[in-house]
Amino acid sequence: MPMPQYVKTAIDGAVGRIILNRPERYNALNRAMIREIVEAMEQFDRDETIGAIVLSGAGKSFSAGADIDEMVEATPITMELLDPFADWDRISRVKKPLLAAVHGYVLGGGFELALACDLIYATDATRFGFPEVNLGVMPGAGGTQRLTKRIGRTRALEWLWTGEQMTADQAERFGLVNRLVEADQLEATVLTVAHRIAAQPKMSVRLIKDAVDKAGDLSIQDGMEHERRNFYLLFATDDQTEGMQAFLEKRQPTFKGN
Ligand code: CAA
Repeated sequence: MPMPQYVKTAIDGAVGRIILNRPERYNALNRAMIREIVEAMEQFDRDETIGAIVLSGAGKSFSAGADIDEMVEATPITMELLDPFADWDRISRVKKPLLAAVHGYVLGGGFELALACDLIYATDATRFGFPEVNLGVMPGAGGTQRLTKRIGRTRALEWLWTGEQMTADQAERFGLVNRLVEADQLEATVLTVAHRIAAQPKMSVRLIKDAVDKAGDLSIQDGMEHERRNFYLLFATDDQTEGMQAFLEKRQPTFKGN
């Protein structure tokens, strides 16, 4: 893989970190940057030592959205041929927990990137929004779908149509973020949660995400059947034996991740 140009990656124990690093453009997401983000996610997803992935932004903001310079000359044909959202689709196939630590502006594609993560932590001064309508377009990386599923049709339409920014308090009230924290607590808070999840039995964490994702697509009955198959499968893991044995022996379990 070529050296990343727009992101920095780091490993913090069992947590893989991806830091958007184009601060002079508010981490505006060009195609190369999205590819670097996705490839870093996939690399951590394959790394057996990693149990959770944290995404954050360098500088004043998480991200002000897709790179407008790159889109200004686009036509439907160039878009179709470039297929810029194919890389975004790969994010949905990442099996490990994705945590977004967001601050400053979280706009357009930046908001879509955060919504593609499993958990979102924000500072109390974060501003969220979909300003695409002000540019004569609309979200293209899942914004209309994910926002609607999270906050409901009427609220989603108001934000998408007006293009107005949502305060961190509103985002929290709508259930879009897991927690709001002071700016100087954001990194520590997210890393604490990420390390906690990374220390859990890896197959349980993985199959929980798989089952929760099905809740959006399947009927309740089909979803429950899927959940049950995942539940049964966990009885093939050493961590299930260890977890239950440790409980009966009144000691702390030592999970091996398989
Ligand atoms: N694309 C390209 N460049 C961007 C950008 C973006 N999305 N957002 C900011 N920048 C650039 C600015 O052009 C500027 O560059 P120069 O220094 O070369 O002039 C630099 O970042 C700093 O920005 P501002 O001077 O505008 O800073 P500000 O503090 O006055 O405003 C802002 C900050 C509110 C984030 C404002 O820059 C802004 O509104 N940005 C655009 C937000 C937007 O419309 N996002 C949606 C993009 S479309 C999309 O995301 C489609 C999709 O679904 C995938």
